[in-house]
Amino acid sequence: MKKETLALLEKYDQTHLLAFYDQMDDVQKENFEKQLDTLDWGVFDCFGNDNTPEGKGKIDPIGALSIADIEKKKEEYVKTGLEAIKAGKVGALLLAGGQGTRLGCSGPKGSFNIGVTKELYIFEQLFRNTMDVVEQAGAWVPFFIMTSDKNHEETTSFLKEHNYFGYNPDYIWFFTQDMAPSMDYEKKLLMESSEKLAFSPNGNGGWFTSFANAGLLKKAKEMGVEWLNCFAVDNVLQRIADPCFVGAVIDQDCVSGAKVVRKADPEERVGVLCLEDGKPSIVEYYEMTHDMNYAKDEQGNYLYCFGVILNYLFRMDKLEEIIAKRMPTHVVEKKIPYVDPDGTAHAPETPNGYKFETLILDMVHMMDNCLAYEVDREKEFAPVKNKEGVDSIDTARELLKKNGVQI
Ligand code: UTP
Repeated sequence: MKKETLALLEKYDQTHLLAFYDQMDDVQKENFEKQLDTLDWGVFDCFGNDNTPEGKGKIDPIGALSIADIEKKKEEYVKTGLEAIKAGKVGALLLAGGQGTRLGCSGPKGSFNIGVTKELYIFEQLFRNTMDVVEQAGAWVPFFIMTSDKNHEETTSFLKEHNYFGYNPDYIWFFTQDMAPSMDYEKKLLMESSEKLAFSPNGNGGWFTSFANAGLLKKAKEMGVEWLNCFAVDNVLQRIADPCFVGAVIDQDCVSGAKVVRKADPEERVGVLCLEDGKPSIVEYYEMTHDMNYAKDEQGNYLYCFGVILNYLFRMDKLEEIIAKRMPTHVVEKKIPYVDPDGTAHAPETPNGYKFETLILDMVHMMDNCLAYEVDREKEFAPVKNKEGVDSIDTARELLKKNGVQI
């Protein structure tokens, strides 16, 4: 092993990783060293920050464009948005690198069949929603899909097999997100097998770096894309490259926008779009104090009432400006399968260590401004997060039916 690699293992107290090294053949040794050489050792500096790596500044409520405000200017916004879409300036970017552990489906979350009397896959529904805009604009929307090493093969072959649900494959591009190492509670990196470290997708915040590294930023610029609409895989009702949303962000001269819904109740577990030291910022539900949740304005409206639904529009030149900055890394406790130094495999049923994630919500805070754009949750928010209960398969099916989607 190279002296430099060994020195890193010693520096970070990780020499237990050498347990299998002597038994590896030359190719395995080379691969293993490569994993160590490309590892993000910065994860060891993320502890002690209480999940809020930079701490929070002064939080204030953010004003939003309400549904009523939008209605008044709908025609103008739609016109501006459609012009941008027709000119190829708006790309859709699907974040599909997650592992969907809460839903517990075996393949990629998008390949989950939400249909009841017929097949209706999540990916299918998302492409259908995008097709509405393609038809309205008379132009294909460039569609970028982020996968991870864990689901890339399955995602690409599933979509190919289903003929991209009618979407033009010339307008679809895939890229994989970066991976981060996992460690146990003693801060010892874990091995997934005797020759591979335990890696997991590094959260939904690293997408722009991965997008650029895959050569797609260059490609998007060549095509004339100026805006990227990023969205989660699991909200089956969301509108993608929504002309009215795009037009409102452009007309309001903003560099980013976030679709928001009014919280169902003051304590709903959603991130709330606020201002932090005058800049847009998402405060997670567990960071909201009781006083903030219940604070009202003079008219009796809740002040911190706009929950984000992971549907953002970013101006691409602004993303390029922030790419050089290191995003805050969040430490999350998870169940991590591993092999111990004796070679015994473990599949823990309770969390046994840490994974490291960057989050797209931190990207919003790096923007100078963000238009909070209110949408009707009954029409645009049906996330499939859990097997049952809140935000589950059942609640999403109900909402699909309510919106006239045959399932
Ligand atoms: P979630 O935070 O809901 O995570 O992702 P998840 O992996 O889908 O589900 P759980 O938490 O394991 O149950 C929100 C969005 O971010 C994407 C997901 O695919 C989803 O669209 N995501 C998440 C990534 O693209 N990469 C990641 O590393 C994590």
